Amino acid sequence: MKPYQIALIALLSLSLFWLTGCNKPVQKAGITVEKAAFGVTAEGDSISVFTIATPSGFCAKLINYGAIITSLETPDRTGKVGDVVLGYDNLPDYVGNTTYFGAIVGRYGNRIREGKFTLDGQEYQLTVNDGKNHLHGGAKGFNKVVWTPQIIQKQDTAGVALSYTSVDGEEGYPGTFNLTVCYLLTTTNELVITYNGTTDKPTIVNPTHHGYFNLAGQGNGTILGHQLQLFADYFTPVDNTLIPTGELRPVDGTPFDFRSPVAIGDRINADDEQIKFGFGYDHNWVLNKQEGTLSIAARVTEPTTGRVMEVYTTEPGIQFYAGNFLDGTITGKEGKVYPYRSGFCLETQHYPDSPNEPDFPSVVLNPGETYTQTTVYKFYAQ
Ligand code: GLA
Repeated sequence: MKPYQIALIALLSLSLFWLTGCNKPVQKAGITVEKAAFGVTAEGDSISVFTIATPSGFCAKLINYGAIITSLETPDRTGKVGDVVLGYDNLPDYVGNTTYFGAIVGRYGNRIREGKFTLDGQEYQLTVNDGKNHLHGGAKGFNKVVWTPQIIQKQDTAGVALSYTSVDGEEGYPGTFNLTVCYLLTTTNELVITYNGTTDKPTIVNPTHHGYFNLAGQGNGTILGHQLQLFADYFTPVDNTLIPTGELRPVDGTPFDFRSPVAIGDRINADDEQIKFGFGYDHNWVLNKQEGTLSIAARVTEPTTGRVMEVYTTEPGIQFYAGNFLDGTITGKEGKVYPYRSGFCLETQHYPDSPNEPDFPSVVLNPGETYTQTTVYKFYAQ
């Protein structure tokens, strides 16, 4: 073999090596999507893990159980990639836990008072699974079901579409609801999530993504030092079961004012009734926006790594949850223990308990209509 042939083979093997891992820089112009086995459920469903990798090192892994993003790697200010979402290493942990790590929650993300609502004069009773309320779709919500995956490759984006059919009566919801969620990565380090859903009877829908972020890297301490900005002048105060009272309250002069960047930890233990009800932050903010437009909802900066995450959405609200129910008993990926408040969620959504609040934007979906949502999580470092 001629020296140039040896060099060529060495180069090809090296590129293949770089292409195989999430934590390796991908030496290729396009975005790659690879599929591998992740495990088998007790019911015998084979679950796959999809790795979507971009040339910059921005890389996501997701599974078709729960439509869960299991890992999201993004560079820090030195170019070093780190995994910024909490999760588990294996399928049994995702099946057995109720943390909603990285999942799509639904049919209705967030709470509905006593699981009751009335639609077209008929009263419905949903599963009650959070004290006396309904939370995140019930006992077996969209985070606990098997989705049908399809790889998507486009010019500047690639990823996976996941579809699920929620049958009439599931967890008490009326109508068969067909939902497709697409997770796409772009070469400008965006995770784009689009939702499309239809129903055969009037129903209520409010699916959202429930990723827990820690921009210092999963398992690297608390999120209290992250600087958060929320583009919202109002929030929806709650009762002591986290159901909105119906009021839209100005954030001005409260610990809920994130109109300018503030460290999450600065006021999280404030002597404030709303903070006490949420055990910290676990509330819905009313986004400043024109209905239906894709606009900025939040910006989070992590000072030690320089990582920044921006959230854009077409939804009217965002639930900021500061990981107050993480209590240090969970061991996640790579054996990392997740302490109290070591991950935060920014769940783009319609407001909690909207079916019982006529003045909140409607969550009703009728036959012939299409439910849509677009939410973008964009990453960079400074
Ligand atoms: C949401 C809720 C929280 C909690 C978490 C999961 O963010 O608002 O109260 O249920 O999900 O623990």
